[in-house]
Amino acid sequence: MTRRSIGIIVNGVTGRMGYRQHLVRSLLAIREQGGLPLGDGTRIWPEPILVGRDETRLQAVAQRHGLTDWTTDLAAALARDDAEIYFDAQVTQQREKAIRQAIEAGKHIYTEKPLAESSAAALELVRAADAAGIRTGVVQDKLFLPGLRKLRRLIDGGFFGRILSIRGEFGYWVFEGDWQPAQRPSWNYRTEDGGGIVMDMFPHWQYVLEELFAPVRAVTCLAATHIPERVDEAGRPYPATADDAAYGIFELDGGIVAALNSSWATRVHRDELVEFHVDGTEGSAVAGLRRCRVQHRAVTPKPVWNPDLPATEDFRAQWTEVPDNEEFDNGFKVQWEAFLRHVVTGSPFAWDFLAGARGVQLAELGLRSAREGRRVEVPELSR
Ligand SMILES: NC(=O)c1ccc[n+]([C@@H]2O[C@H](COP(=O)([O-])OP(=O)(O)OC[C@H]3O[C@@H](n4cnc5c(N)ncnc54)[C@H](O)[C@@H]3O)[C@@H](O)[C@H]2O)c1
Repeated sequence: MTRRSIGIIVNGVTGRMGYRQHLVRSLLAIREQGGLPLGDGTRIWPEPILVGRDETRLQAVAQRHGLTDWTTDLAAALARDDAEIYFDAQVTQQREKAIRQAIEAGKHIYTEKPLAESSAAALELVRAADAAGIRTGVVQDKLFLPGLRKLRRLIDGGFFGRILSIRGEFGYWVFEGDWQPAQRPSWNYRTEDGGGIVMDMFPHWQYVLEELFAPVRAVTCLAATHIPERVDEAGRPYPATADDAAYGIFELDGGIVAALNSSWATRVHRDELVEFHVDGTEGSAVAGLRRCRVQHRAVTPKPVWNPDLPATEDFRAQWTEVPDNEEFDNGFKVQWEAFLRHVVTGSPFAWDFLAGARGVQLAELGLRSAREGRRVEVPELSR
């Protein structure tokens, strides 16, 4: 067994995503399983180099996991030959600058979404990365959720016939921060700090729609700021300048219509925090983070509209659970493994900077649609 160590700069490791999903649930989890086997007796062994702004917090993270390699000096980390990959989970606004530095240092780059704050900036990163000949990747974790994997299986197996529409509900109540602390960082609610639910969620909707169904050709979006004032981490009230809910209609190739609501100002009366309801001529499905249920044409009941009578049917009971039939690993880890293989062996990896730029483009056009109060077409993005 040969161990192939690979130094990975993890910037933003004290943040929600950087710490939990990427460091602990992905990179350290790969080490716990003995490394990532390549099939030829070699195992990739991630060596995280923790980068952040606050020495005390970095040291605490490192100590908690028996790690020793950490620094507040990004340039010094990028100058190291043993650091082959730069990973970015910082706040969105800091990303572009750091990625540029990493491109200049010749590192392969993996990053959280959104890739940048505008599609022009994202495309510049695509081109700079191409010119430098580096390998790139953008997190598209929702594709690896068990619920969506099962949905994908249904699509691949031809369950739906012709797919007509998708209705999606994403959201939950994010506390304002006054009498109970908010469960998301306050920058999410300030446009000037790169916040807003459109910039946060539309990049996800873009790859979910395109990969599972068809490319998005037009978007109509209404963005709202339902809660205009919130209280930050230090207990100070601040004006919430960013959108905290987005009501979007997406027109896909093949006449498929997707209506997706995203909200941090709604209370959950659903089975999961995100659910997609897909209707097709042969059958329908409701897929969430973990579960997926179906109703086939052959067993579709015939409800009759009569408001004078109480509902007698248990509509939810008329759906059948799709079995797992396999074990689903953490989605972030699955994508990390694919990226590590891509870097080390050159195996295919579809979710590169250009794929990430498409997500930024959809968010940008969604915001334009909301601002101008109109439907906006989504042009093809190319290198
Ligand atoms: N894939 C997903 O499902 C998903 C979910 C949530 C967030 N994200 C993305 O991950 C990134 C981080 O989000 P998060 O929720 O972990 O945020 P967070 O606020 O919890 O963490 C942000 C990190 O950036 C660092 N940072 C660097 N410069 C900073 C600055 N000037 N101001 C504030 N923090 C700074 C912080 O120290 C911290 O480590 C965002 O780009 C977000 O879009 C992705």
